[in-house]
Amino acid sequence: MLYPEEVIEEVRLRNDIVDVISSYIKLERKGKTYFGLCPFHSEKTPSFSVEPVKQFFYCFGCNKGGSVIQFIMDIENLEFPDALRFLADRAGITLPEPEEPKERENARQRKKILELNRQAARYFFSLLAGSSGLRALEYLKKRGLSDRIIRRFGLGLSPGGWSELTDYFINNGVSPELLIASGLSIKSAKGNLVDRFRNRIMFPIFDIRGDIIGFGGRVIDNSQPKYMNSPDTPVYNKSRELYGLNFARRSKSSKLLIVEGYMDVISLHQAGIDFAVASLGTSLTQMQAWILKKYADQVIISYDADAAGQAATLRGLEILEKAGCQPKVLIMPENMDPDDYVRKNGPEKFKKLIEGALSLLDYKIRVQKEVHSSDTIEDKLKLLNNIADILATHENSIERELYAKNYAEQYGISLESLRSEILKRMRRKQMSQQRRITPGSYVSHLPQIDNRYGELEYMLLVLLCNENRLYQVVSSKYGLESFKDRGARKAAERLYERLEKNKSCILAELLNDLDTSISSYLTQLAATKCNAEDNERAIKDVLTKLEILHLEDLQKETIEKIKNERDGIKRQELGLEFRKRAERIIELKEKT
Ligand code: CTP
Ligand code: MN
Repeated sequence: MLYPEEVIEEVRLRNDIVDVISSYIKLERKGKTYFGLCPFHSEKTPSFSVEPVKQFFYCFGCNKGGSVIQFIMDIENLEFPDALRFLADRAGITLPEPEEPKERENARQRKKILELNRQAARYFFSLLAGSSGLRALEYLKKRGLSDRIIRRFGLGLSPGGWSELTDYFINNGVSPELLIASGLSIKSAKGNLVDRFRNRIMFPIFDIRGDIIGFGGRVIDNSQPKYMNSPDTPVYNKSRELYGLNFARRSKSSKLLIVEGYMDVISLHQAGIDFAVASLGTSLTQMQAWILKKYADQVIISYDADAAGQAATLRGLEILEKAGCQPKVLIMPENMDPDDYVRKNGPEKFKKLIEGALSLLDYKIRVQKEVHSSDTIEDKLKLLNNIADILATHENSIERELYAKNYAEQYGISLESLRSEILKRMRRKQMSQQRRITPGSYVSHLPQIDNRYGELEYMLLVLLCNENRLYQVVSSKYGLESFKDRGARKAAERLYERLEKNKSCILAELLNDLDTSISSYLTQLAATKCNAEDNERAIKDVLTKLEILHLEDLQKETIEKIKNERDGIKRQELGLEFRKRAERIIELKEKT
């Protein structure tokens, strides 16, 4: 184990699974259990469950399940140590130095890179403020930025030579390896170290905590490429960062506005629209959507109006919707970005645009209207068919109806005919979905288990987690050596060890030590077969069933022995043994 058990346990305890999962998907309470749409497979009706008391999740659709740590591993695509760190951060717990040397080295490396980035940012900032920064500063002023906002976002200037920054750090004792790992330096074709960023306006990229995790650099003239960015490094992962979120998350507004670029964010913040963030040129990722959801009730996209921007907007909308965000789209006049607009028209006009932002449905239909004019009958037909397509995928039936009415009127057709087209499509989709979700289509996560003992042995473990006080009874009747299923025996070793130490162990704790397929399986059992009120009864029942299996195995052995036994007396003895055992089996079977 990387960290002491107590540390892992504290992280788990301080991150309530319902709270954590609610920040990713919408959960609704039904009785003791929460349900929502599974984030791990696509579905229309909720089969994803979260158990607040036992602190685990389980999806009846795709069989994924586990503790809060497994959830974060799956949803954030992190390895165990990183998931743990993620949750520790969330709960404000400082993790001790990891016990494993490699992990400890990684943590140290991350710290060093952050420190190096901080020093680099300071260097860039002082260069911008100094005499060699006049031209760059003038450029920023021309683009309307104040000294205050320049300082707030820590803008700077990278030196113009080939390796000024690299040399500066090397002279200060920084290792070439660290300079490369940070992305600040690159190895040239000749093999020497040079600066990645030369003579560019530098935008430090902050994470939520305000650490500098990378940089973007813009040319001051029209040369290419316009921007250079830090590569992914141990501290920077493009697909999960949002530029400006460290400021935007403190905004009083419950909205977040996603724009494309650095300049858009800075310019909007200067104009008092302090809830703007940028996805930095790449299209929005699911991870970014989840992060946005954590900080805002409403997310508004404002990408460029060109074709590429439009495609990115539609993709972004789908992703945000999947994350449960109820996204909207802000429409910008053609050939303008938010920076241009707010500088030209001022913050009030921009806020009007925000108020007029379109819903996903409105936006999709608007795009269709742009593609198909309604001049000819043919165009009109295509447009209305596409509108029917769009409305058929819309969940909210009231909105669907209202829109249908609106468009039927607008294009002079009867509401009935549009309605029936929509219904036709909905039915078609339902049928194809039913075909897809056949039982057994999601079994990929299940472990290999012994087909006779496996399920019962795993059930025994789950039940024992529910009822720790029965440990003595269970372990004396079914010791580790009794376990036939190898995976179950391994899990039992963990559980018995914990309980032996007189410590309690709930299922969520046990799961942390196990492979994901096994922890999924255990949670599946917990959610489906081990959820009765009376655990004691259930344990007795499972023990009885296991005893029967063991006895039946002994019977088979005895039959073999009888077959091979030449000595008549011994054969009789074996026969007697067989009969007695048979009676016992019958007796036991009556109990279950
Ligand atoms: N971008 C990038 N590399 C490029 C071009 C763009 O990484 N070669 C990213 C940058 O994060 C940039 C964003 O995409 O901020 C949007 O690009 P663009 O609209 O071209 O730039 P602006 O941010 O509008 O910059 P400016 O207003 O200074 O032209
Ligand atoms: Mn711009």
